[in-house]
Amino acid sequence: MKLSPTLNLFNQLFMAFQIAFWPTLISIWRSPLLLFQPQKLSQTYMAHVWLNFGNGADEGGRPTKERLITPHATGVVLDLGAGYGHTIKYVDRSKVTKYVAVEPNLRMHNILRATAATFGFTEADKTLLILSCGAEDTSVILSALNNTQVDTIISVLTFCSISEPQETIAKLVLDVLKPGGQLTYYEHVLSSLKDVAWWQHFWAPLWAVGFDGCRMDRPTHLYIEEITDRNGKSPWKDRLICGRDDEPEEDLFWHRAGRCTRSVPTFAQLEFLLTS
Ligand SMILES: C[S@@+](CC[C@H](N)C(=O)[O-])C[C@H]1O[C@@H](n2cnc3c(N)ncnc32)[C@H](O)[C@@H]1O
Repeated sequence: MKLSPTLNLFNQLFMAFQIAFWPTLISIWRSPLLLFQPQKLSQTYMAHVWLNFGNGADEGGRPTKERLITPHATGVVLDLGAGYGHTIKYVDRSKVTKYVAVEPNLRMHNILRATAATFGFTEADKTLLILSCGAEDTSVILSALNNTQVDTIISVLTFCSISEPQETIAKLVLDVLKPGGQLTYYEHVLSSLKDVAWWQHFWAPLWAVGFDGCRMDRPTHLYIEEITDRNGKSPWKDRLICGRDDEPEEDLFWHRAGRCTRSVPTFAQLEFLLTS
């Protein structure tokens, strides 16, 4: 592997530190208790980092997201780790009835709400719902939706930060996504090149400290591929998996994206489930 991806990683960590250090210090000055709340402190730092990094990261993935999200996101859309709302602009307002944003970082909510309003989703008319739980809290998500499953789940650079990713992604697909619904993702993942993967594992703990728990060494695309239901069967009817055309696989932040459609059980399967 070339040296440049590692240098780029340090550059990004340093830039993030330069951007977020003083604003985070000011937040600690205003609320010293933050020092004893590591998760909140990390979220404060990340809120400042993403305010500056979010646009660049969004721009890099724009062509992929326009291809995967805009023509296909429909009905009730659940955006996991919605951040400042960068993904809202990719959904076609005429096809989406409700935008549900899962965002545990409360410091992002005001901008998220304002961005959603710009694109026609508001809490006042019940087309916007912001949940401050994590993606892991599937029962909270379902109960906020009156136990109705959603048509579309989107994860843009979020599955890298959730806890117990395999279990959580499976629960989201099997419990929260409707049969026939779609999971769309755009994530940086563990490289299939052994040397790159070694460096990703090596730098992952340091990167996670600087970016609120984000792991750069997760094979998220494989976790999604390998989900099985309670009968050991794949829940997917079809899958479209792609990457970015403009990045070499040598990159420490190698992206995979996909749109996976959940199968609809046949009449015979439903009958079997009801009788067993
Ligand atoms: C890299 S940012 C991406 C934000 C947004 N999706 C975008 O494209 O700009 C990751 C987001 O995931 C959120 N996040 C972190 N842990 C999470 C969790 N357990 N469940 C849901 N979201 C989480 C963070 O607060 C942050 O907003």
